[in-house]
Amino acid sequence: MTEDLHQALNRLEAWMRQYMKSWYNEAEDIQQAIRMKEEHTMRVLGYARELSEHLGLAGNDVIRAEIMGLLHDVGRFRQFTIYRTFNDAQSEDHAALGLKTIADEGLISSLPEKDQEIIRFAIWNHNKKVIEPAPDKISLMYAKILRDADKLDIYYVLEPFIAPSDGTGISPDFVRKFTAGEQCDYTMIRTMDDRKLVRLMWVYDINYSWTMKRVLEREYIDKIVRCLPQGDAEIDKGVQRLREYVKEKCNSEDKAE
Ligand SMILES: [Fe+2]
Repeated sequence: MTEDLHQALNRLEAWMRQYMKSWYNEAEDIQQAIRMKEEHTMRVLGYARELSEHLGLAGNDVIRAEIMGLLHDVGRFRQFTIYRTFNDAQSEDHAALGLKTIADEGLISSLPEKDQEIIRFAIWNHNKKVIEPAPDKISLMYAKILRDADKLDIYYVLEPFIAPSDGTGISPDFVRKFTAGEQCDYTMIRTMDDRKLVRLMWVYDINYSWTMKRVLEREYIDKIVRCLPQGDAEIDKGVQRLREYVKEKCNSEDKAE
């Protein structure tokens, strides 16, 4: 017997709320990090629902996206508590950690096999540099939905931490890649300004016009651009290129595929 997706979402939401609370900690800094991920989780669930409805999905097809949003960062709680960092390179891949928890707890084992596969694929790929070759179109679509929902909220979470340039500047190879519209390797980040540039370049990785419009409306791009080193012709060229890309994406039409 397989479980109805709607029932599964209710069960998983109750489980997840309980699970996240179980990582609460008396140390204020840990508590803050856990609460941040708790709130992020619930917002990503909401964005995954909104985006999939925007794409014309309904019923179980929307619930599938909500389940992914709910579970995508389940690995974060163990990760932070053990390693005191959200940096995967300095600890463990949090998507892998999360999938292990999902398997150990049998969280989705009552779902139809195909749903399990789609959910696991999206969660595994939500934090990778690029989406791995997908087994089919539907898996790819859900991976794209989850990445966009996640990214939209990451911009929100990071906003208060974006600060003006500390004067160290951007590494030359990062500037070159930015001007060329290419992604930078974030394991090579050397300065605070490098980090800001990488965040700005996530824009190139947004899949849907729906997401891009929200990123634009909320002025996340402008806020980062204002905090980049000023008066550098190469950086300005990269910003110009990025703005054109954003405009094009906003004017494109989203399709559920
Ligand atoms: Fe994540």
